Amino acid sequence: MNSIPIADPTVSDRARERVDELIGSGALAAGGEVDAFEGEFADYCGTEFGVATSNGTTALHAALVALGVGEGDAVVTSPFSFVASANAIRLAGATPVFADVDPETFALAPEQVRTVVRSREDVAAIMPVHLYGLAANMPALAEIAADHDLAILEDACQAHGAAIDGQRVGSFGDAACFSFYPTKNMTTGEGGMITTDREDVMRRARRYTNHGRRVDGESYAYEHADVGHNFRMTDIAAAIGRAQLERLPAFNEARRENAAALDERLSDAPVETPVVPEGYRHVYHQYTIKTDDRDRLVSHLDDRGIGTGVYYPTTIPDQPAYDGFDPEIPVARDLAERAVSLPVHPGVDADDVDRIADAVAGFTEVSVR
Ligand SMILES: Cc1ncc(COP(=O)(O)O)c(C=O)c1O
Repeated sequence: MNSIPIADPTVSDRARERVDELIGSGALAAGGEVDAFEGEFADYCGTEFGVATSNGTTALHAALVALGVGEGDAVVTSPFSFVASANAIRLAGATPVFADVDPETFALAPEQVRTVVRSREDVAAIMPVHLYGLAANMPALAEIAADHDLAILEDACQAHGAAIDGQRVGSFGDAACFSFYPTKNMTTGEGGMITTDREDVMRRARRYTNHGRRVDGESYAYEHADVGHNFRMTDIAAAIGRAQLERLPAFNEARRENAAALDERLSDAPVETPVVPEGYRHVYHQYTIKTDDRDRLVSHLDDRGIGTGVYYPTTIPDQPAYDGFDPEIPVARDLAERAVSLPVHPGVDADDVDRIADAVAGFTEVSVR
């Protein structure tokens, strides 16, 4: 029996050829491929600009700096995410403040965000996370941001191609950030991208990711206006990214089809399947169900060669690195005990879906007895 992993990234022959050509040409660092990838990815998201980075964490860090968020500022974000979301806020010198999430969408609950924003004077921005490939409630969050004059930075690291009423994530906030880690809906190996319509944000982000060097037309090559990092993407990563972006629509369709089949097959099983609000396009970076018997379900599936993932077994503020943060987040803490993801990536075929569904259904029969 073959096993079905929770992630299975594939890189096409076309990407291999492009990388081979680049190695032959000697153009390995940031150059034409990066410029082209930035433009193509921004087009895909429906934004003016893209700024490629070394990974999603550096994209978030640079975007916060570019938005002018730093020391003395608080950023309201989700406690139920990969730790990088909140780490980036701290790395930019600001303080993460956690609002609880919605039990169905796993994303920031707007009414909780409003309560937190009203309770403090120092909130400068909201950073929603589009978890598992489903957009956060951007219309409601935009209203709060407008009422309190706050910036919005979307953490879209898990949501390439997700949309609300046809508008893609990456284009809702003042800026947004993506990750191209291998398990994501598309990859560059390691890599990240900032998307924005704001030219000032694009310029500051470009500067920060390149040692504070002014961007073209602003100065001569070795003038460094600010202190910055080297957060640049390589041409090799960009070449892989361009080939992956061409395949992203098909990758996402395959994920959505697998998810739809699981929805149907698991409709009677006593696990809670993903909820998608009206008008939202979920791209299923993860297909995440809720169960009260997670450990046993995970080992039951493991015995049958089916990989699972627990994202995330601990909320961010409950991590040791967040000692001293103690927000009221009962929903996030409950989800951290009950959420488990099943494979729906493009490498999963119809037979695999049957096996996964049968195994989950079989488990429930055992546990009911
Ligand atoms: C929600 C979220 N934010 C941020 C990141 C950080 O991205 P990266 O791993 O590319 O630094 C990730 C990815 O792992 C993520 O899932």
